[in-house]
Amino acid sequence: MKPVKIGLLGLGTVGSGTVQILQRNTKEIAGRTGRAIEILLIAVRDINRPRSIDTRSIELTQDPYAVVNHPDIDIVVELIGGDTFAKDLVMKAIANGKHVITANKALIANYGNEIFEQAQQQGVVVAFEAAVAGGIPIIKALREGLAANQIEWLAGIINGTSNFILTEMKEKGREFADVLAEAQQLGYAEADPTFDVEGVDAAHKLAILTSIAFGVTLKFDKVAMEGITDITPLDVSYAEQLGYHIKHLGFARKTQQGIEMRVHPTLIPRQRLIANVDGVMNAILVKGDAVGPTLYYGAGAGGKATGSAVVADLIDVVRTLTSDPDNRVPHLAFQADALVDLPILPLTQIETAYYLRLSLLDKAGVLAEITQILGQHHISIEAVIQKEPSNENTPAVTMIMLTHKVIEQHMNQAIVAMERLDSVMAKVVKIRLEHLNK
Ligand code: HSE
Repeated sequence: MKPVKIGLLGLGTVGSGTVQILQRNTKEIAGRTGRAIEILLIAVRDINRPRSIDTRSIELTQDPYAVVNHPDIDIVVELIGGDTFAKDLVMKAIANGKHVITANKALIANYGNEIFEQAQQQGVVVAFEAAVAGGIPIIKALREGLAANQIEWLAGIINGTSNFILTEMKEKGREFADVLAEAQQLGYAEADPTFDVEGVDAAHKLAILTSIAFGVTLKFDKVAMEGITDITPLDVSYAEQLGYHIKHLGFARKTQQGIEMRVHPTLIPRQRLIANVDGVMNAILVKGDAVGPTLYYGAGAGGKATGSAVVADLIDVVRTLTSDPDNRVPHLAFQADALVDLPILPLTQIETAYYLRLSLLDKAGVLAEITQILGQHHISIEAVIQKEPSNENTPAVTMIMLTHKVIEQHMNQAIVAMERLDSVMAKVVKIRLEHLNK
């Protein structure tokens, strides 16, 4: 089948992340869509600017209208941000019969109603997963995964920059301006960072989520909006002492009276999972009447994370371009002929870290025997704690060890060797430990 040809508007943080993903995962993407995706043209501000990605096989232009008017382009991916110029380009693309993918929350929040109406008339798709919460597929979750439910409320940490600032203030006592500058450097912040810290960006995203959750038209101008600029390290510290974390939260709820739609700093009990979402990460808690509460978590900003959502939208649109039923969303996500039979690893071959609890004779030299065995099996220790004996009549002490990652077979062999020692007084307790950070 012929490749689908796409054109990009913008090659900044998200544009570059999108191109990198398309280049790196070409085979997987073709396996999922049944068709190749070819980037035909990218509109950039400065054609001569040095770039971190390989654009040798792609034509660049400084004229964005060359993309939206190109007769061979099937899908236009709008990643320039802003709203008025972006709107003009998107409306032209739609008028030209092109499908549109955008990461532009300001565009959708402000002009979505108009854009969708035009797209409906032209029979094209406008997809915008990347506009809300970066890489988290929250729009898909609300629109498809939770389609059986009446959504009761949703609450989200949906501005990564604000969350990054609050986290750094809480954990390192850093100054607001200093952390904001770092967020800008890392490519998290909006072109105008006041959008982040004054709640505008979160309000754009909340307006979109609210419409999808409750089936209402977009009403960005009705979002009640406060940012984090008035939050001081002192507030953060007092809230902590009382058992709360302060988060910038977007909240929408359907009541008998109407819909609440607000973004503002919020104390959240620290035992809630969402209260522990830190740094640039985003999370959205959605309460459905049938499913109950569900939580979606992931990177809310950054080139590759947001590019992940852009490319997922691309894959969706490419699938819908093909009327062949074999190309509808496949049951196992991949097309039948792209399913592969990879081996499933036995437990002995997995690699993980471990928590070990040992009951040891309380005498000199025992710890040395244990560490020698671990060393012989190439197991590196991350932490050791020796607990006081629980009562003075027992000769045993409890030793807790955390190890770095090791192949399970090596750990099993080391445990067998340890249990053979006279000084090891009970079976060694082994629990796998995953840091879940990479
Ligand atoms: N400036 C946004 C944020 C980027 O910090 O969350 C992702 O929309």
